[in-house]
Amino acid sequence: MSPLELALSCPKAELHLHIEGSLEPELAFALAARNGIDFPYASVEALRAAYDFADLQSFLDLYYACADVLRTEADFHDLMLAYLRRAREDQIIHAEVFFDPQTHTARGIPFETVLRGLRAGAEAARSEWGMSTQLIMSFLRHLSEEDAFATLEQAMPFIDQIDGFGLDSSERGHPPSKFERVFARCRELGKPVVAHAGEEGPPAYIYEALDLLKVGRIDHGVRASEDPALMQRLAREGMPLTVCPLSNVRLRVFADMRQHSLPALLAQGLVVTLNSDDPAYFGGYLGANIRAVHAAFGFDAPTWQTLIANSFRASFVSAAQRAAWIAQVDAHFASA
Ligand code: HPA
Ligand code: ZN
Repeated sequence: MSPLELALSCPKAELHLHIEGSLEPELAFALAARNGIDFPYASVEALRAAYDFADLQSFLDLYYACADVLRTEADFHDLMLAYLRRAREDQIIHAEVFFDPQTHTARGIPFETVLRGLRAGAEAARSEWGMSTQLIMSFLRHLSEEDAFATLEQAMPFIDQIDGFGLDSSERGHPPSKFERVFARCRELGKPVVAHAGEEGPPAYIYEALDLLKVGRIDHGVRASEDPALMQRLAREGMPLTVCPLSNVRLRVFADMRQHSLPALLAQGLVVTLNSDDPAYFGGYLGANIRAVHAAFGFDAPTWQTLIANSFRASFVSAAQRAAWIAQVDAHFASA
């Protein structure tokens, strides 16, 4: 098998996936019809044609607008199951999935409706295919810390069903420091915390995520390459970065894939993982990200083995489970 075929066929984990960003136009139209919503696009094709983004904010505007079709527990179930069915085709056996409760509670959808639907979808994939899923509740950073605290309060009755906390949405002008207190509270609950940092924002935001939010992973982090001292620190601390190559190109963080900082991050020995972010909007799921990276950089088999082993190494499952999955990756590459 070629290095690319080995990578595609290997069991893997996805650690940076927004469930709302897996809403395909076809499902959006079906849910709009089911819920009697007048969706402001003429057709699936017209909606897809709108997927031409200048930056993060232009994407987020459409992403939040499309989320309006998600209304009932069944909608969230169907969304989760559709993603996990598709993820399975890319040999994903474990997914740590972000959801944005404030996008829904702000529209009057109860927190419980969102969580129950997503959990039911994950449970269906577990019983059908043995897939493992965790849920990471993300705070919207363009909203206030007070709003984040109120959302955490709504989550408390269901806290056992939430596996971690994250921070996403518009990065520029909304530094991690804005959420220092709410993240301290999340850590007191004994949950892992992560934050988007260094996607569009500067390396300073990555330092804040590390020092103030005390995250266990950095989501994106691709602008770390601009700061050699930060790169050394991330390597020394073994701090994982959940990198999303197609997302970065579609949102013009890099002009094209060949300009991506991924090779520089790997050369520094960082614990990089590959992920799809919002695959319905950015031109593909994890397999497509792997193909696009391979087309640009032509990595050898050991590099692919490292990237895929990292997806388990950086996951929030038990050490024993991580070791078992990494052994599966090593066996897969050794069989070549
Ligand atoms: N960045 C920030 N917020 C997001 C993203 C992203 O890539 N996707 C969904 N919410
Ligand atoms: Zn993201």
